[in-house]
Amino acid sequence: MLPLLLLFLLDLSPALAWIPVEDWESGNVTASVGDSGQCVCHVYLPDTMFPADRLEHMQEVNNELKVEVEVQKKKLVSYEGKLEIYLKELLNLTVRLTMMDTTAADYIKLDFELLRIELREFEALVTQLKDSLNSSSPMFDSLYTEIQNMTLIVNQLETYDKKNLEVIRIEFAKLQKKLEDCQNDQGNIKPDIGNCNHSGILSISKPMVAQLNAHLSSGYVFGGWGKDSKPLRGYESMYFYGSFRTPNVYNFYFYTDFKNLILRHNFKQIHLSDEWIGTGNNYIVRNHAVYFQHNSPFSMTKLNLTSNQYDYRVIPAASASFSYSYSDNQNIDFSGDEQGLWVMYASEESMGKIILAKVDEKSFGIADEWKTNAYKQQTGNAFMACGVMYATRSVDLTTEEIFYAYDTRTKEEKNLNIRFQKFQEKYSSLDYNPTDQKLYMYNDGYYVSYNVRFNEK
Ligand SMILES: *[C@@H]1O[C@H](CO)[C@@H](O)[C@H](O)[C@H]1NC(C)=O
Ligand SMILES: *[C@@H]1O[C@H](CO)[C@@H](O)[C@H](O)[C@H]1NC(C)=O
Ligand SMILES: *[C@@H]1O[C@H](CO)[C@@H](O)[C@H](O)[C@H]1NC(C)=O
Ligand SMILES: *[C@@H]1O[C@H](CO)[C@@H](O)[C@H](O)[C@H]1NC(C)=O
Ligand SMILES: *[C@@H]1O[C@H](CO)[C@@H](O)[C@H](O)[C@H]1NC(C)=O
Ligand SMILES: *[C@@H]1O[C@H](CO)[C@@H](O)[C@H](O)[C@H]1NC(C)=O
Repeated sequence: MLPLLLLFLLDLSPALAWIPVEDWESGNVTASVGDSGQCVCHVYLPDTMFPADRLEHMQEVNNELKVEVEVQKKKLVSYEGKLEIYLKELLNLTVRLTMMDTTAADYIKLDFELLRIELREFEALVTQLKDSLNSSSPMFDSLYTEIQNMTLIVNQLETYDKKNLEVIRIEFAKLQKKLEDCQNDQGNIKPDIGNCNHSGILSISKPMVAQLNAHLSSGYVFGGWGKDSKPLRGYESMYFYGSFRTPNVYNFYFYTDFKNLILRHNFKQIHLSDEWIGTGNNYIVRNHAVYFQHNSPFSMTKLNLTSNQYDYRVIPAASASFSYSYSDNQNIDFSGDEQGLWVMYASEESMGKIILAKVDEKSFGIADEWKTNAYKQQTGNAFMACGVMYATRSVDLTTEEIFYAYDTRTKEEKNLNIRFQKFQEKYSSLDYNPTDQKLYMYNDGYYVSYNVRFNEK
């Protein structure tokens, strides 16, 4: 007796979804899950039992399948078109990247990364299609060949991409360095590192957009990046980064220098253990320790990167009810400047106004405090430079301003309107670094930095 073997891949198409497997009562049906998770259905039928009406039914299924194959073929033609466009964009991008130093004044955006994400998604789509079409049925053969061909093209593109990505990234890092130097020269900004003999911030440069975060995910909008504000010897060029889809903080990544940040080659990763999970993304690195907010207990927390030891201090007055305007849970904000380590928070007693505190780095305790008149919830973020607190707020979608300053030395406050451009609307962290006199902003998933220009006395 010759059994008729029918093999169906049930997830292939809507046309197949309605095959009434349970109808084949006279036969013998087994179902299993295939390599790629598809449902494979084997139907054994002794030929003597094969009913004519079922044959008719099968022919209908065949017709449905043919229609489906046509639909898939049409899709392939459209994919091919898209692929060609991607390829052109890729080449165009390479040209644009090499032209970048001539358009120095403008934003830099490494949309190459975005393109790569698109390519990956596309490849996944093609692979998915390919896997679901792995069948012995000749009906799929032409379609399958075409898809294999498609995958081949994608793979070639991938190789092209990989080979060039490293080169492009290195070139890009070099260009950015040149660009920075160029901007510094043009703006006559000769950073006098460590000198606080000035009367505060005069202006902020145009944003320098390094690239999308190391996760290459535009969804990772909550995060932070920057440099150690008082690095240990040998770690002067180190960068840190962390981000996630929610304000929670789970990971920190460390890069030896800017090039490795761009290449996404970290030399150290920290995955916070459950009881130390942070929040708010207003962390900084100082003296080779990460200072961040953590919620149980609600406290300022320090992770020593040398000893990998945690320590925390509760600030009794600090309230978890007041956050900055762009993100939740930003209750405890750290900052490191020429004069030390600072923490900013609001309390019930201050009625939501920012309280600025100096942290004693040895004891990790509060050494001194100042009450400011900046309402935390109306502030985008705040940072310290030369013992002065600066608070920012939104002007419009692309413009931010420093609207307030509080000088801890004179106890004087000032209203300001020092405007600067944003690359994206929102940001979850902004900090000044005294070692290069730059501001570091994590701007909706992008690494953005600014040169700070101070008033000459
Ligand atoms: C299914 O068919 C196989 C092969 O014809 C047979 O060995 C097996 O006993 C059948 N199973 C059932 C449950 O009918
Ligand atoms: C290449 O880039 C330039 C500049 O962004 C743009 O004007 C042009 O349309 C692009 N060409 C293609 C084929 O994408
Ligand atoms: C297709 O499936 C067969 C087994 O059914 C397997 O041996 C083969 O490797 C698969 N081919 C691909 C390209 O997945
Ligand atoms: C694959 O696609 C290319 C370009 O469209 C074509 O020249 C080639 O003949 C195709 N190969 C197969 C096996 O279909
Ligand atoms: C600060 O700058 C002023 C004017 O440039 C100068 O006279 C003064 O000596 C400087 N003070 C210090 C401590 O450098
Ligand atoms: C970190 O730990 C090391 C080793 O215990 C210690 O020497 C260093 O002072 C600590 N750093 C900070 C910032 O606490």
